[in-house]
Amino acid sequence: MFKVVLVMTVSVLAMSGCKAKPGIGEPGYNLVNSKCGTCHFAGVKKAHATKEEWDKTVTRMMGKGVTLNDTEKATVIDFLVKYYHP
Ligand code: HEC
Repeated sequence: MFKVVLVMTVSVLAMSGCKAKPGIGEPGYNLVNSKCGTCHFAGVKKAHATKEEWDKTVTRMMGKGVTLNDTEKATVIDFLVKYYHP
């Protein structure tokens, strides 16, 4: 009986974990994961900003060594605005 309860608890935790990661598999997610995740994807997830603020932040991060072309930058900002807005 205890084992059954344990298995159920673990599955519920695993499922709720999925909800905490929006946008997995989207092009923007993959970019943020590979370009920003090298330093701090966790920090990105805590931030909530408007489009203008994300534009400034991403531009500032590019000064720290993030390389994004115009299309990638727009994709990243759209993704961040969609999931990490105020
Ligand atoms: C080379 C390492 C590095 C990479 C790559 C990087 N960052 Fe940062 N980021 C930092 C450091 C260091 C800070 C803290 C100092 C600061 O805020 O300037 C920071 C701070 C931040 C903050 C909090 C500060 C604020 O103004 O809200 C956010 C949000 C953020 N980064 C988002 C991003 C995003 C989005 C990307 C990808 C486009 C990214 N970072 C890529 C190093 C990095």
